[in-house]
Amino acid sequence: MAYSKNSPFNDLPNLPPIDFIESPEILRHLAKAARHLGELNGLCASLPDPQLLINTIVLQESKDSSAIENIVTTQDELYKAASEEGTASHAAKEVLSYREALYVGLEKMTTQKNLLMTNTMIEIVQTIKQNKSGIRTSPGTALKNAINGEIIYTPPCCEDILREKLTALEQFINDADNSLLDPLVKMAFIHYQFEAIHPFADGNGRTGRIVNALYLVQQQLLLQPVLYLSSYIVKYKTEYYQLLRAVTEKNNWHDWVMYILTAIIETAQLTTQKIRSMLSLKDEYEKQMKQTLGASFSYELLQLMFTLPYLKIELLENKNIAHRQTASVWLKKLKEADILRPQKIGRTTYYINYRLMELLSTD
Ligand SMILES: Nc1ncnc2c1ncn2[C@@H]1O[C@H](COP(=O)(O)OP(=O)(O)OP(=O)(O)O)[C@@H](O)[C@H]1O
Ligand SMILES: [Mg+2]
Repeated sequence: MAYSKNSPFNDLPNLPPIDFIESPEILRHLAKAARHLGELNGLCASLPDPQLLINTIVLQESKDSSAIENIVTTQDELYKAASEEGTASHAAKEVLSYREALYVGLEKMTTQKNLLMTNTMIEIVQTIKQNKSGIRTSPGTALKNAINGEIIYTPPCCEDILREKLTALEQFINDADNSLLDPLVKMAFIHYQFEAIHPFADGNGRTGRIVNALYLVQQQLLLQPVLYLSSYIVKYKTEYYQLLRAVTEKNNWHDWVMYILTAIIETAQLTTQKIRSMLSLKDEYEKQMKQTLGASFSYELLQLMFTLPYLKIELLENKNIAHRQTASVWLKKLKEADILRPQKIGRTTYYINYRLMELLSTD
């Protein structure tokens, strides 16, 4: 049957696409992407304390990825929420759930022999949405133009077909021998396929973007999940949607793969730069803090400043880094040295690692 954007695309073919060829342009991009990813991975492997810096990168990704869905939270609100779960706005909570989902996925993959399974994808979406949503069981899901409501794409329907296609995708992801394709090309294929299957009522974009990050870890291209394409996608969102459509409507895999490879190259370079800048900021602060705090210098405090850049007295107490009295003296001294800057939000004064925040928000 001829393809129609108005009826469920039950003829969506399984991967890999039969007539795909790696053009010289793609091969050049592949080599470049592998080089930049390798550099990023090497840097992460050399970090004494990788979790430390990754936490802020993951939080930034959670913010960008959620922004694609128009869940917008300010830096302030988000980092404040990260320091005190419970009182966050709805948007900030959803962003924190995205971060949680990434870790849930990673954990699940580790306990399932490094396999990336359908049940993991379901757990990811449930964590993002904080509900028990699963694979769509009834028809009616269609992607529409936000402005005029016109249907852009109708994904396959319903549960049996979706499960069948997810199983085929699962095999493609986990079977290393199924083709001689480069893992980065495979990642581009997987991302399209997951979005085209569109197994859930909502959260498909975000789940698919988490799957990308997990896949890079599964393929051992990265030891830590530090490469996230969401900020690139936010920047080139129209193209992202157009290219997904062009695969469905014109079988144009070439431009889609080029888009993903370019996203990997740019993001890997940017992330490497960011981690380097964070490391040098941390070194600089360590020296300054040793001067400012003298014998009471605490490495745990420095670490916390780079994990949760919005500090407050209670946070230092809760993390068992210092008693109230000491915490208050430290924060005051760091304020006087202009290492942290105070900001009153509601009734609480936060002491902000403002230089880290500046660094995180520039691209
Ligand atoms: N023509 C298309 N074909 C297949 N998938 C598409 C198409 N257009 C957009 N998509 C995918 O659908 C996603 C949106 O689906 P959904 O609303 O379920 O996900 P979300 O996570 O809630 O939203 P978002 O991705 O906007 O954050 C997009 O991010 C994109 O990946
Ligand atoms: Mg949505």
